[in-house]
Amino acid sequence: MADTLTSSDFVPQTVIPPEKPLPLMRGLMQMIANPLYVWPQAMYENPYHGVKWIGRTFHYIRKPEHMKAVFLDHADIFAKSQFQKKLVGPALGDGLLTAEGEHWKFQRRAASPAFRIDALRALVPAFSHSAQETIERIKAMPAGQTVDVMQEMQHATLDVIVETILGGADPEFGYDRMARIVSDYIETMGKPDMLDMFGAPNWVPRPWGGKGRRRAAELQQSAANAINRRRASGGQQKDLLGLLLAARDPETGRGLSDVELRDNVVTFIGAGHETTALALTFSLYLVANAPDVQERLLREVLDVCGDRPIDAAMVDNLVYHEQVIKEAMRLYPPVAIIDRMATQDIDIGDAMVKKGDFAFALIYVMHRHKLLWDHPERFDPERFSPENAKKLHRFQFMPFGAGPRICIGMKFAYMEAVAMLATLVRGLRFLPNAAHTVEPNIRITLRPEGGMPLYAEKR
Ligand code: HEM
Repeated sequence: MADTLTSSDFVPQTVIPPEKPLPLMRGLMQMIANPLYVWPQAMYENPYHGVKWIGRTFHYIRKPEHMKAVFLDHADIFAKSQFQKKLVGPALGDGLLTAEGEHWKFQRRAASPAFRIDALRALVPAFSHSAQETIERIKAMPAGQTVDVMQEMQHATLDVIVETILGGADPEFGYDRMARIVSDYIETMGKPDMLDMFGAPNWVPRPWGGKGRRRAAELQQSAANAINRRRASGGQQKDLLGLLLAARDPETGRGLSDVELRDNVVTFIGAGHETTALALTFSLYLVANAPDVQERLLREVLDVCGDRPIDAAMVDNLVYHEQVIKEAMRLYPPVAIIDRMATQDIDIGDAMVKKGDFAFALIYVMHRHKLLWDHPERFDPERFSPENAKKLHRFQFMPFGAGPRICIGMKFAYMEAVAMLATLVRGLRFLPNAAHTVEPNIRITLRPEGGMPLYAEKR
């Protein structure tokens, strides 16, 4: 592949993979502490390997052709696996992210109108408004201190998603309460469970998830309260909750049950803010460390938008912003692993997957794979220039998954991230923090350990 490094040669921090596979017990312990330290260097150099473990094979895939086979060509054979359901199920129940079959199809159809392009375009002013509020919060902080941009981005994206789903701020989904719930949940439920790894059945008691499960129940109660308040008000809003309440299955005429409504409110609030916040967090870290990229962003936003609030037509023209966000998600994909389980024997190319086997799509590894990317460790938004992007395999960049289960919020996320990044860069200059080590860790999502303290000064 041609050398594309024209706008930055910054090599960001990340974990150094082990040179050789770890011994079994150390590997399992490390899997719980941080899976990124388990995958040896060879995985970034060769396309596939399978590991037999308690009667099944775990297929670790990072080759675009395998991704296409699992997520598109044989999507009907690869079901969501118990691992994903274990991690997010206690909070998200059987909502759109976790449901299967007809139940999934019905919910996807019901939610789709909220994600049509015209509906999303109308949201852009809310995205830039939320970023502007972030700028004001940061400006009000004592000068010379670091700002945890991870917290700030979570705050900004939470405000937006609650507004989009519930049609306005909701006291039970305020930032401080939600930040505590999300971090308690991720801390207790976000690690692989040793008993699951040894194939222990579900009835074996797992006393360590108590706090996370309590937080999940609080979240579900808040969603139920929001739904009850909407019903009592008799309102017919066109927000996502309004659409879900009005949805009817064309064949049976049935609507979503109370539990389905609740699970989807939690699903959309959970899936719709943490991931975008992380894409923005890592974008700001990279931009802070690549002043030439930051300058180019500033020039673009000033050329396209001047000092006006950002709207949808402007977002279409903030092309370099989208390149930066894509490159940030290549290096730090918010969803770093996507897992599936085969329901039938199937050949995915040069690997035979048996019924009951797991396919682990290692998005993080594929995004840094030596066979696919030139200087994969470097931050270089030019990889995603309109011209260079054409040369990429359709399945070598998969931050949003692929196939029928591709993220329903993908366009929402791009528009939100572009509008927010542009607003932020225009209002503030981000500067690196040499005293902080950036260490990503997979805890459901790929998060920087200890947040992301950066310096920010007003322009
Ligand atoms: C940068 C931001 C985002 C990233 C990286 C991301 C990533 C993903 C990925 C990888 C999947 C597929 C999971 C799988 O196949 O098992 C997914 C599904 C999903 N995402 Fe996102 N997402 C983002 C933003 C959003 C937003 C903004 C929303 C809602 C407003 C959202 C809602 C969902 C839902 C409901 C699903 C399940 C879709 C289905 O199965 O039909 N996501 N997301």
